[in-house]
Amino acid sequence: MIRKEKYNVAVVGATGVVGIEMAKVLEQRNFPVDKFLPLASERSEGKAVSFRNEEIPVSVLDENSFEGVDIALFSAGATISKKFAPIAAKAGAVVIDNSSAWRMDTEVPLVVPEVNPEEAANHKGIIANPNCSTIQMVVALKPIHDAAKIKRVVVSTYQSVSGWGKEAVEQLIEETKDIASRDCKNYNNTKDIKKVLPAQIAFNVIPHIDVFENNDYTKEELKCVNETRKIMKEPELPITATCVRVPVFRCHSEAVNIQTENKLSVQEVKELLSNAPGVKVVDNPSSGVYPLALDADGKDEVFVGRIREDKSIENGLNLWIVSDNLRKGAALNAVQIAELLIKR
Ligand SMILES: NC(=O)c1ccc[n+]([C@@H]2O[C@H](COP(=O)([O-])OP(=O)(O)OC[C@H]3O[C@@H](n4cnc5c(N)ncnc54)[C@H](OP(=O)(O)O)[C@@H]3O)[C@@H](O)[C@H]2O)c1
Repeated sequence: MIRKEKYNVAVVGATGVVGIEMAKVLEQRNFPVDKFLPLASERSEGKAVSFRNEEIPVSVLDENSFEGVDIALFSAGATISKKFAPIAAKAGAVVIDNSSAWRMDTEVPLVVPEVNPEEAANHKGIIANPNCSTIQMVVALKPIHDAAKIKRVVVSTYQSVSGWGKEAVEQLIEETKDIASRDCKNYNNTKDIKKVLPAQIAFNVIPHIDVFENNDYTKEELKCVNETRKIMKEPELPITATCVRVPVFRCHSEAVNIQTENKLSVQEVKELLSNAPGVKVVDNPSSGVYPLALDADGKDEVFVGRIREDKSIENGLNLWIVSDNLRKGAALNAVQIAELLIKR
């Protein structure tokens, strides 16, 4: 990409929960934007997106949307990315894609700036942004891996509804209002509310994110496995995941159990993570201090707490990792990748 003072930036999916956050992050980080171009579907015709105190009209995405665009942040799902990312790249833009469309393509770098920033330079027009639950985990695991080599990872996620987009957020709101209107009696009945998640999410926990594959794992669980291996450059790393949707609006939480080759004390892990980029250790169990989804809401860091030894295995450790899925899990990571590109 040619170095410029300012760049024309398109956001594909600008009216979605990630797209709206992208506009905010670009503004908050003072990214050198010349022209800001919000793109979405025909459903958004007539709508506008706020950017730098201006209401910018949304344009409908089509094959000609990318004339003069330097950076295209995609966040409209894999089908749209499959079709339009190559069109945008051909028109001269560098695409940073939030969907799963390109993440495992060997020609496409999958980048978390705190972990493998050097990979961004190898792009051929498209860079993939990893899955939200993967990003926060690798940011916390990389410094431990560098210090003591991780041998195995077991992760259970507690993922917010915004991770499934604006309609899932709406589902939780409507179900909660419906149940509250009955004074929380008969809380197991929201049949009339539109469901985009596989079951009622209000007052419930659903062990099903994305579709099931033939091996009975969900696609989300396999994303955690495969993307972590690619980003950490450890193609054989033993890792297993259980991904669960919880009735939380924003921020994913993860219980992560690891085994390392070399022994690290809890104190050493705390020191490593305290000095790691993008990580904040929040860990004072005797005072009831640990990362919470509500505290991470709107923040940029990956919060780590409940750091403790797992004495059931040799060199075992347990961690509780929380981060805002719309910020570090999506929009912030994408904008940080764009920052890497313009610094080169
Ligand atoms: N949510 C997260 O935490 C998260 C994290 C990482 C990655 N992602 C990925 O980011 C993408 C978007 O997620 P989201 O959560 O922001 O979803 P969302 O809230 O449902 O928003 C979807 C966006 O895509 C647009 N869109 C849908 N169909 C379109 C079409 N045919 N042409 C143009 N635009 C179209 C929508 O526009 P309209 O408003 O016009 O329909 C909307 O702007 C997905 O690929 C998702 O996997 C999400």
